[in-house]
Amino acid sequence: MSVLKIGGMSCRQLAEQFGTPLCVYDEEKILSQARAAVENFRSDMFDTEVAYASKAFSSIGLFGMLAAEGLGFDVVSGGELYGAMKAGVDMDKVYFHGNNKSDDEIRMALDAGVGYFVIDNVMECGRIVKLAGEAGRRTRALLRINPGISAHTHEYIMTSKPDSKFGIYIENTEHINRVIDELAADDNVELAGFHSHIGSQIVDVASFEKALGTMIGFLGSLKRSRGLDGMELSIGGGFGIKYVAEDHPVSLGDMCADMIRCAEEAAKAEDVKIAKLITEPGRAMVGEAGYTLYTIGDMKKSGDKNYIFVDGGMSDNIRPALYGAEYDAVLPEKYDEEPAISYCVAGKNCESGDVIIGDIKLPEVKSGDLLAVVSTGAYGYSMASNYNRLGRPAVVMVKDGEPRLIIRRETYEDMYALETENQA
Ligand code: LLP
Repeated sequence: MSVLKIGGMSCRQLAEQFGTPLCVYDEEKILSQARAAVENFRSDMFDTEVAYASKAFSSIGLFGMLAAEGLGFDVVSGGELYGAMKAGVDMDKVYFHGNNKSDDEIRMALDAGVGYFVIDNVMECGRIVKLAGEAGRRTRALLRINPGISAHTHEYIMTSKPDSKFGIYIENTEHINRVIDELAADDNVELAGFHSHIGSQIVDVASFEKALGTMIGFLGSLKRSRGLDGMELSIGGGFGIKYVAEDHPVSLGDMCADMIRCAEEAAKAEDVKIAKLITEPGRAMVGEAGYTLYTIGDMKKSGDKNYIFVDGGMSDNIRPALYGAEYDAVLPEKYDEEPAISYCVAGKNCESGDVIIGDIKLPEVKSGDLLAVVSTGAYGYSMASNYNRLGRPAVVMVKDGEPRLIIRRETYEDMYALETENQA
């Protein structure tokens, strides 16, 4: 009988050693994605950088592991920056994103010496200039441009509509010029270039190519209108991964190679010099390397549905409820048995929408079986909550049959640790 192994370890061993629900990462898969990205995102025409979008999943160890592979990092908050600092990553390779960064976060990033602030809007530009002046710190900035490319993905993760909350719309030349002028007149914050990101879980290469073409066209027009050249350009992340059998994403390595080819061609056509091209994959780096192991508890028939209940749910994976995201799952110990029965996999959170997989055919399930939901490595743990005071799962990294607990399971004490004595 064949069983599902992750990083050389059986799911049953993992469940016995660490309990369920459990987030498990196959370390080799993360490393091979990181290497594929770095190796394919190279050009003879310009410098390049792969910055991992740490919002997909972060831990101090993962920051360190990816830094050792030469990656930089996209962080969006003081909290993510703190993790990168704790891991001792090279701050020059950190891109500080986010709309509405607080003054405290900006000061923290200036003190840490982050390489780049990715500026979201005119007001933020003014605050960064002011705070950099007060701190006597020099830094670089990329201005986030919304290129207005609508890619086919869920509305909540589509970021490039004209009315998006992110960046400055490409046709808003007044605001774009205000940022360029303000930074040109400032000694502390240098405008190093521009940034765009069109959305997430995008599988059509054409949307990325279009966005890249639009952004390099934009650089061309800036060169002609304002004499700006030799800018850096970040093309964001958003590369889709395989969740279910119908998904056929292009591999991260091929995607990176394609982006380089497109950028080189467009730079030639527009006659612009690109100093550095940056990409920020998050999901594609860790998504398929992650699994969530659950133990099946009670089962019941309700109407036409065969419910199987797992010992976690929307508190460790909000994506189905929030985006209608689809997942696939296997019974790790019945891996080679034919799927026979349709089930609805629901969690134990107090909400009807707490369904991880609405309809999946599996071999016959018994209470006590393990269930492995696949491709949960991105935006699973990082969006987990304590809803219903369920503790967040433990996270284990496995390589060559050896597990490393990188985040322990949240205890009841952990969950109540923030409460003060002033309860009554
Ligand atoms: N760069 C920027 C500026 C971003 O906003 C994002 C994601 C990324 C890079 C990385 O995108 P990725 O390669 O991971 O697709 N919670 C949602 C995804 C939100 C993505 C937000 N920004 C989900 O679970 O699908």
